[in-house]
Amino acid sequence: MKLPNIVILDEKDKRLHHASQEVTFPLSDTDKKTIQDMLLYLKMSQIDEEREKYDLRAGMGLAYIQLGLPKRIFVVVNEEEDHTFTNYVVINPKIISNSEELIYVGEGEGCLSVNREVEGIVPRYARVTVEAYDMEGNPYTIRVREELAVAFQHEIDHLDGILFTDKIDSKNPYKNMQNMREI
Ligand code: NI
Repeated sequence: MKLPNIVILDEKDKRLHHASQEVTFPLSDTDKKTIQDMLLYLKMSQIDEEREKYDLRAGMGLAYIQLGLPKRIFVVVNEEEDHTFTNYVVINPKIISNSEELIYVGEGEGCLSVNREVEGIVPRYARVTVEAYDMEGNPYTIRVREELAVAFQHEIDHLDGILFTDKIDSKNPYKNMQNMREI
């Protein structure tokens, strides 16, 4: 596989702290190519051999703003138990419902824009239902849970200019841990 030319902004870049704009359809060919590149990049980052070859960090999701593009688009690539990869292209997403139950990633969340160890946990809904559009502008509704739900909420935050590090209280990085389930 050939690594797509993707340059990811670092957390210090102020663009990551601005909300992105709604997308209008149809998407340009450039946008479609960018989305395909992002999907391939994430997939390659999850394949040991490719990750080592290109010195990548493993990532599950990537938002458009991480490339400096302020549009409400993100992608997620999820490796299934049978080692196939499922691609999610999510445009203009809205969370329309969420579980009461909260979860957090025990080992801490990661982000391809945050190149350091961050102590602390981020509360996330265990399940969310999201309305969004696909690359062709077709609306769809998806219900995600567990790790995928965390990824979707993390990426939706990017579209609102929020990094996971913004959600950790540095004075009390494990705040309310007892009210949440670890995944
Ligand atoms: Ni991120």
